Amino acid sequence: MAPSTGDLAGCFVTIEGGEGTGKTTLLAALAERARAKGLDVVTCREPGGTALGERLRSALLGADGSAPDPRAELLVFAAARAQLVAEVVRPALDRGALVLCDRYADSTTAYQHYGRGLPRETVDAVNAAATGALTPDLTLLLDLPPTEGLRRAGRAGDYMEREDLAFHERVRAGYGELARSEPERWRVLDASRGAGDMADEAWGEIVRAAQLGPA
Ligand code: TMP
Repeated sequence: MAPSTGDLAGCFVTIEGGEGTGKTTLLAALAERARAKGLDVVTCREPGGTALGERLRSALLGADGSAPDPRAELLVFAAARAQLVAEVVRPALDRGALVLCDRYADSTTAYQHYGRGLPRETVDAVNAAATGALTPDLTLLLDLPPTEGLRRAGRAGDYMEREDLAFHERVRAGYGELARSEPERWRVLDASRGAGDMADEAWGEIVRAAQLGPA
């Protein structure tokens, strides 16, 4: 059965993964499929997605940026997220749109807890405050060895991409733990495949998650 607007109405899907895993490309492909089916789709990215969020993104991750204090970093990501939830995500879900978001609170757990080593309780409390406890219905994890992801991302990256390999390995392992701890919400996709295969599988997962049967 093909999905109808009603089936995916108010569904919140997030895409997570390390550097260079193809989240942005996948999100664009999924949005195109959903729009082609006549669905009301809202796409966003984190940090960013609002005027304030984009300013915070360039303040934090701009070309000349260096790593701030980890707690300052945590709170900037949280501030951008709070604005995105209030201004974009909540209103879109309330009117029945399908929301596709490139990164969300799980990025903070993966990067600031598993990567930076901030206490899990601190990160969970900040995430809860920023999101108002709004949790995705489905989270797609694009999994790829960091050596390959960083190669794909290229050399002129922001300070996060310039962190050492051990940092990126911790982030990847952290994502794996998150996915295993909540298997009903997470789907792990092998990101070493081509963009078309990824989009087919991801779309299938979205349709299944909305209990629609085969895509
Ligand atoms: P992007 O370039 O993949 O959109 O992500 C921006 C960078 O910010 C990426 O290195 C991951 C990082 N990040 C965090 O560390 N914590 C967060 O909460 C978010 C949203 C992103």
